[in-house]
Amino acid sequence: MNRLLVICFGVSVVASTCLFTPVSADEPILAATPPMGWNSWNAFEKDIDEKKIREIADAMVATGMRDAGYQYLVIDDAWMAPQRDAKGRLTGDPERFPSGMRALGDYIHSKGLKFGIYQDRGELTCQGLPGSLQHEQVDMATFAQWGVDYIKLDSCHAERNGRMSSVDYAIFHQAIQATGRPMVLSISDFGNAAWAWGGKRYAQLWRTSNDIYPWMDSVYYCAQTSGGDQKSHPAFNGLWQFAGPGHWNDPDMLHVGNLKHIPEDRKDMANRAHFGLWCILAAPLMAGNDLRVMSDSVKSVLTAPELIAVNQDPRGVQGYQVFSQDGREVYCKPLADGTAALLFLNKRRENADISISWEKIGLAGKQPVRDLWARHDLGEFDQGFTAKQLGWHESLLVKVGSKGKPLPTATPVPAEKYRVTRPGTTYLSDLYYIWKAHHAPVYDATFAKQPIVIHSKTFTKGIGCKGKSAFMFMVDEKAQRLRARVQIDPASPAGSEGRFKVYNEDFFANQVLWDSKIMTKDSAPQEIDVDISKVKCLMLVFEGKDALGNWAEARVIAGQ
Ligand code: GLA
Repeated sequence: MNRLLVICFGVSVVASTCLFTPVSADEPILAATPPMGWNSWNAFEKDIDEKKIREIADAMVATGMRDAGYQYLVIDDAWMAPQRDAKGRLTGDPERFPSGMRALGDYIHSKGLKFGIYQDRGELTCQGLPGSLQHEQVDMATFAQWGVDYIKLDSCHAERNGRMSSVDYAIFHQAIQATGRPMVLSISDFGNAAWAWGGKRYAQLWRTSNDIYPWMDSVYYCAQTSGGDQKSHPAFNGLWQFAGPGHWNDPDMLHVGNLKHIPEDRKDMANRAHFGLWCILAAPLMAGNDLRVMSDSVKSVLTAPELIAVNQDPRGVQGYQVFSQDGREVYCKPLADGTAALLFLNKRRENADISISWEKIGLAGKQPVRDLWARHDLGEFDQGFTAKQLGWHESLLVKVGSKGKPLPTATPVPAEKYRVTRPGTTYLSDLYYIWKAHHAPVYDATFAKQPIVIHSKTFTKGIGCKGKSAFMFMVDEKAQRLRARVQIDPASPAGSEGRFKVYNEDFFANQVLWDSKIMTKDSAPQEIDVDISKVKCLMLVFEGKDALGNWAEARVIAGQ
């Protein structure tokens, strides 16, 4: 398939104004559906050795996980020796992996599985072992020699690399290509906007969240980074429009079977809610439980064939919310065969009926509905469907409609709403931010939703923040200047301090273009006027505990 990324500047699409970035035409699509496998971190953290990994490989076969589709066995952090060998190569920890990683990879392959491994793009891994910085080529070549099929590339310490994330991952992508071995590249960067800075050009999946933990608040939070507005402007309705065959949003690995702080009689429901969310969101399915001691109920969740079919649907549309109110949610994932999968979920303690009308998902009249957990048909339903009396963490995953022409997806947000596409001045508050962390910024008002006023002048355009707040805009090297006037809002609590910073790309790039230094309510407003002609993703950051900060008339100026 000839894949071409075409970025155009201006309203008229004229070839000479477009920047063509070929994603090599003869590169096979890796991860055409979301990768499925098992990863050691959530089950064992650092406590891994070759015996355990072999037992897991055996268990992947014996439990039916492999045959259900889980093909990658990924060894996470803490597999390597603390020192490289005399030739600068990585080796397995001699105590815990005495037979070596190649032999372990052979064992994994002998079971009909694929071999995945962890590394970090910084100087050290998150566990303080040797990272790949300045060893990128040799490490990728070593992995290829060992028969590695999947690389999870983490980002601890990468803020000291002195390189943009996009540059880091491009280096690994090239080093992988140079080996001639197809290896899936999984960007592990705690959700630092790979969908915005071009992760798709280098890797097959990228994290959308911080690390997941084995409790439902964390599970729901991670799901909301990919399927809700935890990481992107609410107008996007999650990150679905940035996913597709060969490039997936990754809300982190599964904790099905590990969940804590839940009453025993709710655990099965919670496991299903977690798994159902990951399936509808077309998330990578990386099991994270100890498969050697998996209960039958956990196994039946992880291997539910009709759920997995939704996740692995070849159309590759990530599901999105079609209803959300007070912790009651419905997600829709239009499938290749003309039907749609619907997830009904109640995150609240009180029982609730949750309904959807067919017209919301492009259907009408009477439609057949099938319960995908129970694997039986529920009958035909006119105009819509109600999941009745769902309890706390309870969900229902159904398939609706008949085979035929694929249903339309939701409408993606058009480029001009979130990218700089016009010459002249673009107010940032007229663009949706593409990524955010901590407090969401408020547009054309202070964070307290009051007019932005500086020295008795009211600014109708601008962005209001409360510390800490970080958010990113796609400027695509199309604008030359960023201009704004910043001020600590007079309504901030007495004594509060804040600091405004402008960055090129994400936190790992660590390229500060402008820094207000500490400001108080008494500080004079400061003018920003910086060159952003080499900036693809512009990140604005406001630090300060309780302070409110205003970016009055924040705007970018593109050449005529
Ligand atoms: C980071 C990653 C985790 C895991 C650990 C290992 O925190 O996000 O998934 O790989 O490192 O140290």
